[in-house]
Amino acid sequence: MLKTISKTTLLLGLGLAVAVPNAYAQGAKKAAAAPAPAPIVGNAEAGAKKISNCIGCHGIPEYKTAFPTVYRVPKISGQNEKYLIAALNAYRSGERSHPSMKGIASALSDQDIADLAAYYAKNK
Ligand code: HEC
Repeated sequence: MLKTISKTTLLLGLGLAVAVPNAYAQGAKKAAAAPAPAPIVGNAEAGAKKISNCIGCHGIPEYKTAFPTVYRVPKISGQNEKYLIAALNAYRSGERSHPSMKGIASALSDQDIADLAAYYAKNK
């Protein structure tokens, strides 16, 4: 009886030892097979259509938020395009932690970020 159990356990253990690395290998294969993502190019005209969620705060000179604390909203028009992309990515990833911007950036795709950055960089 004891022998049967330990044999079963051993077999199960072996099965897992084979199955787990196999699953990892398959995941790696899938990742390698995925086509390289097309480079994302920002389009200012497309960006102009995406600013409805931004102008409420960034469109008002000297605007201050009341939540979570009284805070000055930075001017983003005319800002360097690469800087804007980096900033939005940082909010999205949580590297920058401002709650409103984090929420807003998390809803943006890479293309949205590129378009918005292109728009604001041109819009002085
Ligand atoms: C609820 C108000 C609010 C809205 C709406 C909002 N922002 Fe912001 N945004 C802020 C505040 C406040 C900051 C400064 C946060 C900080 O200190 O990190 C900020 C910071 C930024 C920054 C970084 C600026 C810098 O100088 O580092 C960028 C870029 C930005 N917002 C882009 C956007 C875009 C694009 C949208 C629309 C998709 C948007 N924001 C919508 C309030 C807002």
